[in-house]
Amino acid sequence: MKLCMIGTGYVGLVSGVCFADLGNDVICVDKDNNKINNLKKGIIPIYEPGLEELVLKNYKNNRLNFSTNLKESIKKSDIVFVCVGTPTRRNSNSADLSQVYSVAKEISKSINKFKIIINKSTVPVTTGDEVEKIIAKKVSRKYFSVVSNPEFLREGEAIRDFIYPDRVVIGSNDVKSKKILKNLYSPLISKGAKFLSTNRRAAELIKYASNAFLATKITFINEIANLCEKTEIDVEDISIGIGLDKRIGSRFLRAGPAYGGSCFPKDTKAIVSTADKFKTNLSVIKSVIKSNQIRSDILQKRVNLILKNKVKNKKISFLGVTFKANTDDMRDSSSLKLIPYLSRRGAQIKYYDPTGFKKEFSKLKNVEFSQSIQDSIKGSDLIVIHTEWNDFKSINFRKFSKNKKLIIYDMRNIFSPDKIKKMGFKYFGIGR
Ligand code: UDX
Repeated sequence: MKLCMIGTGYVGLVSGVCFADLGNDVICVDKDNNKINNLKKGIIPIYEPGLEELVLKNYKNNRLNFSTNLKESIKKSDIVFVCVGTPTRRNSNSADLSQVYSVAKEISKSINKFKIIINKSTVPVTTGDEVEKIIAKKVSRKYFSVVSNPEFLREGEAIRDFIYPDRVVIGSNDVKSKKILKNLYSPLISKGAKFLSTNRRAAELIKYASNAFLATKITFINEIANLCEKTEIDVEDISIGIGLDKRIGSRFLRAGPAYGGSCFPKDTKAIVSTADKFKTNLSVIKSVIKSNQIRSDILQKRVNLILKNKVKNKKISFLGVTFKANTDDMRDSSSLKLIPYLSRRGAQIKYYDPTGFKKEFSKLKNVEFSQSIQDSIKGSDLIVIHTEWNDFKSINFRKFSKNKKLIIYDMRNIFSPDKIKKMGFKYFGIGR
């Protein structure tokens, strides 16, 4: 099929490349000239394992193309995926849909034959209705169909999540589009993905409700971890113990610093805001948002406690600063609160991240990027393992540090406390 992906951010690029790899002709469009020129040269704008290889392979095969010409690209395509950003609006919790609506206007000017317009961007319930109205101002409804097809891609695992999804959700109010899209996704369905067809609004809500539920699961175990810290229980035992109940399930039950990233913080706020609009109080999700926000205070208090309230001039090494491993994304990472706080209190901070220097910390006092794990650790009083990169899982701290009083605060519980204690160092984890 001939596909057009509008927006070559995370979702548009990954989905476009994967669809090309399944044998479709794909044009990825973006208004950012620089990005498109770079992509044509094989320069990928984000860090995502496996993405570069797939881009190069499919670009060479000519199944994948890049363009800044929106009109032409839409005209050439049967299916148009809208993959633009829906960030949180300034001074409010609702999603900013201006990019979605402006793309809808553009699409309405370029419909030359029947097209399926798919919203892949995460959008509040009823956005599809609005998009349909915008296009219908220019084109008869018999020439287009607006469908919701949410993505469930995790950063760092996006290619695998695309190829082996648990489910493909198609929200459409017409049978013809459902059939075409089931056919488009048939290579994934035949490998075991469940196909779920709903009306358009339900698909829109499935995306938000899924993310809100996962954020709730993480927040739940983070609060249980707080209790474990006070009662000398290891939260890892609790995660295993409750996760073995099939009704609960073990995934997304890892206690950590606080959930971050481009989706959970934004989508939990947006679903609450949509519900408010419909005069419905989503009190559980509201308290999840609050609990996640105050988690940084809890972590700050714990660092103070670990350092016996003597933060000033302490040498602190941060290993990993991104919101999770296998991504260079800093959005809503808990390090963005923790590092400035410790810098304000007079600590001397060195950080290392496999994805390199972060501009977010460039103006902070006494915060510097280290080129290697070893450099970052050297001379430290405290090592904070902030992100669970594989690179950190087998560090021999004894080899790198001569400091007998070295303390390790493992915010992802990647080390066994006994192992660290045997090396002669003090160990603190989350919920243990
Ligand atoms: C998420 C959803 O998983 C994905 O389906 C959606 O489409 C986009 O948002 P992503 O933001 O890439 O994906 O990351 P994810 O792996 O879900 O992690 C989000 C946050 O939760 C991270 O900060 C991560 O460290 C944290 N997390 C995750 C935990 O603290 N514990 C867990 O058990 C799992």
